[in-house]
Amino acid sequence: IAACTRCPLHCNATQAVPGEGPMDADLMIVGEQPGDQEDLSGRPFVGPAGQLFDQIAGQAGLERGKAFLTNAVKHFKFTPRGKRRLHQRPNASEIRHCRWWLDAEIAQVRPKLVLAMGATAAEGLTGRRGAILSRRGKIEETPSGTPALLTLHPSYLLRLTDPHAKADATAQFRDDLSAAVRLLA
Ligand code: URA
Repeated sequence: IAACTRCPLHCNATQAVPGEGPMDADLMIVGEQPGDQEDLSGRPFVGPAGQLFDQIAGQAGLERGKAFLTNAVKHFKFTPRGKRRLHQRPNASEIRHCRWWLDAEIAQVRPKLVLAMGATAAEGLTGRRGAILSRRGKIEETPSGTPALLTLHPSYLLRLTDPHAKADATAQFRDDLSAAVRLLA
């Protein structure tokens, strides 16, 4: 994966960020793409979204160390703004090209359940684009046959400024993580 040139995103990113976790995990958790800190460290979910995920996962009884964490797209896509690198959403072609790696991770780990966080993960796993707010909390099929439970992305929670909207979305996210734990119990 370090040598991947399947799409142009490798040109500007520091490195590809593969998934990490037990290779026999029952649960695979899929995010969008590495962020700034993940791109620099080479590990998924170590930045602010990862820290929020860890906090809410703890409340939901989900042990991060027991899950395999990865992303739908393995390189960071950004636009430079001065010294900052601003996140850009991967497009359908980038998601499709990177699906080769996601499928390979699913084939190796063979999880019982995949938790898709956000619309990009949902698209990479199911092949279907569409708003995540109406799909979250539900299970969708993936071509590998592994069921995917769809939920919000923790970065979405970080972006919400209205306190009520933030509390509601956080509760929904926590409920979805609890549902994943229950489905595997
Ligand atoms: N957001 C993601 O979707 N994945 C990461 O690894 C970090 C932030």
